[in-house]
Amino acid sequence: RKPENHILVIFGASGDLTKRKLIPALADLHKQQLLPDRFAVLGLGRTQLSNDDFREKMKEGASEFSSKEGGSIDDFLNKLHYYSFNTKERAEYAGFREKLEDLDAEVGSGSNFIFYLATPPSMYSLVPQFLADQGLNKNEKGFRRLIVEKPFGDNLESAQKLNADLLEFFNEEQIYRIDHYLGKETVQNLLVTRFSNGIFEPLWNRNFIHHVEVTSSEDIGVGSRGSYYEESGAMRDMVQNHLLLLSSLVAMEPPTLVNAESIRNEIVKVLQSLRPIPKDEVDEYVIRGQYVSSKMRGKDVKGYREEDGVDPKSRRETFVAMKFFIDNWRWAGVPFYIRTGKMLPTRVTEIVIHFQPTPHHLFSDDQAIIRQQNQLVIRIQPDEGLLLKFGMKVPGAGFRVQDVNMDFHYSELADSYLPSAYERLLLDCMLGDPTLYSRGDAVEAAWKFIDPILKAWEEQPCIKVHGYPAGTWGPEVSDDLIEGNMTWRYPCK
Ligand code: BG6
Repeated sequence: RKPENHILVIFGASGDLTKRKLIPALADLHKQQLLPDRFAVLGLGRTQLSNDDFREKMKEGASEFSSKEGGSIDDFLNKLHYYSFNTKERAEYAGFREKLEDLDAEVGSGSNFIFYLATPPSMYSLVPQFLADQGLNKNEKGFRRLIVEKPFGDNLESAQKLNADLLEFFNEEQIYRIDHYLGKETVQNLLVTRFSNGIFEPLWNRNFIHHVEVTSSEDIGVGSRGSYYEESGAMRDMVQNHLLLLSSLVAMEPPTLVNAESIRNEIVKVLQSLRPIPKDEVDEYVIRGQYVSSKMRGKDVKGYREEDGVDPKSRRETFVAMKFFIDNWRWAGVPFYIRTGKMLPTRVTEIVIHFQPTPHHLFSDDQAIIRQQNQLVIRIQPDEGLLLKFGMKVPGAGFRVQDVNMDFHYSELADSYLPSAYERLLLDCMLGDPTLYSRGDAVEAAWKFIDPILKAWEEQPCIKVHGYPAGTWGPEVSDDLIEGNMTWRYPCK
C-alpha cells in the first residue's frame, strides 16, 4: 500500500541526520516504489542552499548510505526542495507557510504535511508553536503529523514539559516520537519469535527463565560528538531509550491485537513495573565506566577525556551495565542485565535469554551445571538472526555433554533485504501508523526509572566512574553484577 500524497518537511535539513539517514531511507523507499506519486521533500535550515545545491548534497548521502542496491534515484532527487530561513524566528514562519502552500499546489500533495524535527532539541518546543501560529497543526484540510527525534528530554521533568508543550498544539495521534531501535527488523521480529511460536512462549516467564541479558556494544568512540556526549552520556543516549525498549519487548505481555494501541499499552505496562533503584543503592545495581586510551587492533586510540569537545576531567559515562527487576507476575525475581558502551571490542546488539538449568544434573560436574542452561540468543545486529544453544552428548564412552548451536542467519534467506530502521519508520508515519513510535507515557515511564540513577551520580561523587581500556568489555566489576559464577556472554566477532 502506498501512502497518501504529501510533503515531508524536514527541519534541520542541512544537518547530518538528513544526509546520512533520512534521505538514504527515502531513496530506498523510492527504489521500491513505496513513495506516493505526488510527493516532495521540503528541506529547511539556516544554511543558504539552492535546490540544486541541496540535491547535490543529498545525492552524495543517498549514494553513500542507501542500502537498497540498484535503481536510479534521479526522479527522486527532483522531488527535493530547499528553503532557507531562521527557524527560531516566529515572524519568518509566514514566508515558510507561503512557500509550503506554493509547493503543495505545484505538487498536488493534497495539503498533507509531515513535519520532521531533525533539529537540536532546543527547537522541539518552539517549532510546534510557530507551526500552530500559521494554522499548520490542525488535521483540517489534510493530515498534519510531527516526527520528533531523540533525545526526548534529558530527565523526567524536561520530558514531561516537552510532552505538555507538544500536546498544546498537536494531538497525541499526530505526534511520532522516534526510537530508531523499534524500526529495526530484528527488533520487530522479537514479537514474532515470542508470539507466533508455540515452543517459546510457554517458557517465557519466571518459572523457566533464569535471567535476561541485553547488550548493545559499539567499537567506536564518541568521534565528533564529544560535546553532545558530555551532556548525554551512555545512560541518556542508549539506556533510557533503546535498551529499555528492547527489554520491554522481551518482557511485555501478548498484545490483544496487532495495533498501535494494544502494543504500546503493553510496552508502557512493563516500563511502569520497573522496580525503582533506591538512590543509596545505585552502585550495587549500576556500573558506569569511561574508556581510557589504549591499543585497539594494533592502533593507539584516544581515551574519552582526550576526545574533541570533552572536558579533560570529565566524569561522563561511556559505558553502563545494570541489573534491574520487573515487578509483575511474569517476571517476579528474574534479573535483567543490560549493558552498553563505546569502544568495546566489537559492534553487536543482542538479547540472551538464559533458561533455568535442568532441575537435576544427571550428567553433572560443576561445568555441566552451567552448560545445561540453554540460551536463546536474539541477534539484533549485525549478522541478524537467532541462535539456540543446547547440550548434546559427546559421541563415545560415558555421558559427556557439550554445547551445540542451532543457528539461523537472516543473510541465508533468499530475499534477505532488511529495510533500514529509518526506512521502515518513515514509511509507517506516512501511512499513519504509530505502532513503532514511542508514546508519551512510555517515554515518561522510562525517565521515571532512570532519573534517580542520574541524580545519585550527580549528588554522590563517591560513586565510581571506572576507567576501562578502549577495546575491552568495560570495567571488570560489571561481571560482579551477575549473580553466582556466571558472567556476561562475550560475543565473538
Ligand atoms: C544513537 C546514539 O541513538 O544510537 C548513538 O545516539 C549510537 O550514540 C546509535 O551510536 C547506535 O545505533 P545503531 O543503530 O548503530 O545501533
